[in-house]
Amino acid sequence: MHYKNILGALVFMSMLLNCKNDENSIPLINIIPQPLEINSSDGYFELNEFTGIIYDDDFKVSGDFLKSYLRTGLNKELNGPHKIQFIQDLNLSPEAYVLNIKKKSIDITAQSDQGAFYAIQSLRQLLPAAFENKTFSNTTTQIPCVLIKDQPEFSYRGMHLDVGRHLFSVDFIKKYIDALAMLKMNTFHWHLTEDQGWRIEIKKYPKLQEIAAYRQETLIGHYNDQPHQFDNQKYGGFYTQEEIKDIVQYANSRFITIIPEIELPGHSQAAIAAYPSLGCTNEPVKVATKWGVFEDIYCPKEETFAFLEDVLDEVLTLFPSRYIHIGGDEAPKTRWKNCDHCNELILREGLKDENELQSYFISRIENYLNSKGRQIIGWDEILEGGLAPNATVMSWRGVTGAVEAAKQQHHVIMTPTSHCYFDYYQSENEQEPLAIGGYLPLEKVYNFNPIPDELNDDETKFVLGAQGNVWTEYMQTSEQVEYMVFPRILAMSETVWSKKERKNYANFIKRLENFHERLDFLDINYANHLYEIQGELNSNNEGLSYHLKTLTEGKTIRFTLDNSEPLLSSKIYTNSILLKESVHVKAALFNSSNKLGETFSQYINLHKAVGQKIAIDTELNESYAGSGAQGLINGISGSNSRYGDKEWLGFSGKDIEITIDFNEKIQINSIKTRFYNGRGQWIYAPKHIFITFNNEEPVKVTILDSEDLVVPVNFQGHDDVKRLSFTIPNYGVISDGKQGAGNKAWTFIDEIIIN
Ligand code: ACM
Ligand code: ZN
Repeated sequence: MHYKNILGALVFMSMLLNCKNDENSIPLINIIPQPLEINSSDGYFELNEFTGIIYDDDFKVSGDFLKSYLRTGLNKELNGPHKIQFIQDLNLSPEAYVLNIKKKSIDITAQSDQGAFYAIQSLRQLLPAAFENKTFSNTTTQIPCVLIKDQPEFSYRGMHLDVGRHLFSVDFIKKYIDALAMLKMNTFHWHLTEDQGWRIEIKKYPKLQEIAAYRQETLIGHYNDQPHQFDNQKYGGFYTQEEIKDIVQYANSRFITIIPEIELPGHSQAAIAAYPSLGCTNEPVKVATKWGVFEDIYCPKEETFAFLEDVLDEVLTLFPSRYIHIGGDEAPKTRWKNCDHCNELILREGLKDENELQSYFISRIENYLNSKGRQIIGWDEILEGGLAPNATVMSWRGVTGAVEAAKQQHHVIMTPTSHCYFDYYQSENEQEPLAIGGYLPLEKVYNFNPIPDELNDDETKFVLGAQGNVWTEYMQTSEQVEYMVFPRILAMSETVWSKKERKNYANFIKRLENFHERLDFLDINYANHLYEIQGELNSNNEGLSYHLKTLTEGKTIRFTLDNSEPLLSSKIYTNSILLKESVHVKAALFNSSNKLGETFSQYINLHKAVGQKIAIDTELNESYAGSGAQGLINGISGSNSRYGDKEWLGFSGKDIEITIDFNEKIQINSIKTRFYNGRGQWIYAPKHIFITFNNEEPVKVTILDSEDLVVPVNFQGHDDVKRLSFTIPNYGVISDGKQGAGNKAWTFIDEIIIN
């Protein structure tokens, strides 16, 4: 339930009334996610060896957690003058808490053990970060007096982890759960079955352990690298039921619900490799060794349903969660179309097509799980062919699925790729470790609003919350998972916990910089892009200028314009750099003695179109809007390897018309641009384009069919050009056997360079 709607005036009524979210109106108390209300006062509580912790069985989990966290021999029997006490208040909502740090006591007030647990996570962040380290043994610590009243904005606050593509140790899963708990998240979505590996022990089906859990080898490098190469090493494993029980119990003691995902009908090639009769063809298949979407999916025959019900029976004994995630995404219907059984079933059940057959499949599984007292969650494809009656939708392909489901009065969880896919790059720096693609910087996660604009007040209550997704194709190690997850999980925690009015990115960045020390003590391999520099080209009456900025305060940007490495002795940046010619800007952030982050490097090509007028008739895809139309003539080219940066513009399935108007007639010697050709991501260069000078007849330019990642287009010039137009027809429908078959391709275009 979305708290905005059920809590209403209940508890902390007046606190937000005049509260604006400008940076300075929020006191800087270093807690993430930002609490609802903080009132600081003078003085300190002194935590020392005589401090007692007083709690009864109603607060056993949180009290025990605090005792073990503090590790100072504090003792619940002690009831001296300096005590930490737990107080129950049945008027609070279950996840709310009040943390009152006074000179003589710390009072933790909550309705439930869970609320008290969140009070302790806040208290923890008010302690020196060294407390995270197991050997810390300071005898006296001063905790500043403060009154915090807090409660979450959303009831579903989740993180996902794919263990199918790569597998991580039980210890790492616990570390992940610990991190979620520290950030007041309450759900771990554990993606347990995939084409590349089945990861949960199912005792009734031993071949899932013997065959489905292992692949013979794994793709090396990026899927887009051609030709595909493999490492020749068997890879796999699974979690035993004993390990899973241990993890579920561990999560339970941190108020984390684990929602297991058992994928169906798609992403099931590993299971079909173990039991070929679960597929349509009965032919043997391999556990997948590369990434993607595979055509061998479960055939909806009685044998398959019996298998899945048996599997789910074992899953239900391990996971007490109300929700079971059944997948539902990316299930190509190729096999079903060619299967006699599937065709007969469609006729017999009076179904219209394969989409309705998928809906039939999901509804049968839903029925089964409902009969066991459980509810299903599925990816948004489960809307196609009709939504199963009680299903919750996890919206990942944008927010359209969420809007549609909420309007049908179904619960939704928001995980759109644009804001929630932590497998995307988080920096445009070319030095980033290999990732699947895309670009999802911290700020975008931070500014995510889980409530889609399209919903009215009644509909918004169906939005339960949001979740960060971690698909691990390109994360071989737990260190790499940590790198991709941190710090974006911190931004996500605030997106789902904190009230919109309490969020402020600049304030968050200060708290994040402070949080680094805690992450260091926790031995978490976070990415640090706080000390990066961003550049922006501006055009005004005085001409073109280049602006540099960085996120954190109290440091100095130093730069060069001759492609040399910036040093402590380089020029200090104070004002925008006026551009008269093409330059290569390099810049870095320094404190008084050291360089802090990576060097920023940008070539700015002042070609003839820079700063002119440009218009695009086609709507940009919101997720790939780059720097907008003007970005095509800003003198800056996109990445050679990634399409998700600020310079590539993406269009989904549409023809594109681009017009550049020059201030005065110019002579054009050459025209250059580039199309991205990431076929694994459904992105294709067009087959040809048309170029029109002024109002003359369009000239057709054929583009070579190429597997290269970036396809250049070069065209010779023309005299006296005032207006230049490009017509770019979409590539068309992607052919069978390719990723995205049957869908229209995406078009991505980069800088249009006019010389
Ligand atoms: C998904 O990313 N295939 C849900
Ligand atoms: Zn079939």
